[in-house]
Amino acid sequence: MNIALTGATGFLGLRLLRCLLERHGALTLLTHSASADALGRVTRFLEATGAPERLIAELPARVRVVPTDLSRPRMGLPTARFEELADACDAIWHSAGSINLEGDLASLRRVNVEGTRAVLELAAAGPRRPVIYHVSTAFVAGARREGVVYEDELDDAHGFENSYERSKYEAEALVHAWARTHRSPVVVLRPSILVTDLPPHPELPRHPLQVMDQLVGDAMHAAGLAGKRRSDPGLPVMRLVGRRYGHLNMMPVEDAATAMVRLADREPSGRVDTYHVVHDHDVPVCAVTELMERLAPLRARLVDRRPDDVSALEASMDFYPGITPYLRHHRRYDDTRARTVLGPPRSVTRVDVDYLLSGLRPARPAWPTDAPAGGPH
Ligand SMILES: NC(=O)c1ccc[n+]([C@@H]2O[C@H](COP(=O)([O-])OP(=O)(O)OC[C@H]3O[C@@H](n4cnc5c(N)ncnc54)[C@H](OP(=O)(O)O)[C@@H]3O)[C@@H](O)[C@H]2O)c1
Repeated sequence: MNIALTGATGFLGLRLLRCLLERHGALTLLTHSASADALGRVTRFLEATGAPERLIAELPARVRVVPTDLSRPRMGLPTARFEELADACDAIWHSAGSINLEGDLASLRRVNVEGTRAVLELAAAGPRRPVIYHVSTAFVAGARREGVVYEDELDDAHGFENSYERSKYEAEALVHAWARTHRSPVVVLRPSILVTDLPPHPELPRHPLQVMDQLVGDAMHAAGLAGKRRSDPGLPVMRLVGRRYGHLNMMPVEDAATAMVRLADREPSGRVDTYHVVHDHDVPVCAVTELMERLAPLRARLVDRRPDDVSALEASMDFYPGITPYLRHHRRYDDTRARTVLGPPRSVTRVDVDYLLSGLRPARPAWPTDAPAGGPH
């Protein structure tokens, strides 16, 4: 079975790669030609995460690296190379994408929509009708902030919180249209926010919570509070529009990759099979504000509406309109179809403030209680 994987050097892709290598002898990695040394980065990830030495030693023989640019026609490959790839593919895992929540729509479309189009073209160009495993996101549900989101739902009626969500929605809509036309099997995997408790490491890709960490540090700097210490009297207050009883779903990235690969064990129906890959317990929004307080010497308060007298610290959060609306979310994701395949939740990973903090700081405790604002990045 010939399996191709895009995005293998990414936060999720590296874990998918490791899970896929547990089941398959060889993989073709459609890596990003603009970023150097894909194999080296994969190797260093495996080393940093304690993979068996044998797996690391065998890696060069078990993976074939094909540098591509998914935003270009035929992935930027010469026609003969593209056709040779297409002729050999039995399954394509598509995990490449841009997860920039503050990105502009044109750039996000180039990677997320055109990149998906390129994967679909590859699937259609060969004779083997490969199964496509398309990594989407639970956030294609867009700006709908409450209620239950079902796995079969896909509509843009509620609009989107940011251009990332829109681009991922458009990519998923493209996949549906393609599957109808080509009568080909597609599996859509929709993880929620992917998190880790693995401390930051120069060889590991950044993850979404690190963006929040940076946002808090940048806001403190922008407001002239960089030198603030936790022991100083009168910590600055950051009022954030959010729901006190709101919640978000956060899924440990390793558990997500394991679940996705197990979902792929099931024979696809031949249509589009969509699965929510989510944790069975949500994280309260107030845990996110508590995390902010542990990341920087400030007091985070959830308020119902934007105050009239915003402080410099609060105003600096306006630079991140793609992220802050999530504090208002309290929707749930139904994962009945995924559970039907996977059985009851097996993940015992508890995602709480300590878990999230571990993924942001070299070691616990985060840093000496009197460290300056923003802490080490
Ligand atoms: N992270 C999350 O919380 C989350 C949640 C839900 C869904 N998802 C989805 O999961 C997928 C993977 O996300 P991630 O967190 O792993 O993202 P990531 O860490 O940013 O990785 C993105 C991957 O895409 C590759 N890539 C980017 N542009 C490319 C291009 N033009 N051509 C070829 N490859 C390109 C990158 O290669 P280089 O790094 O080598 O340049 C990298 O391997 C995405 O589709 C995302 O929408 C992520």
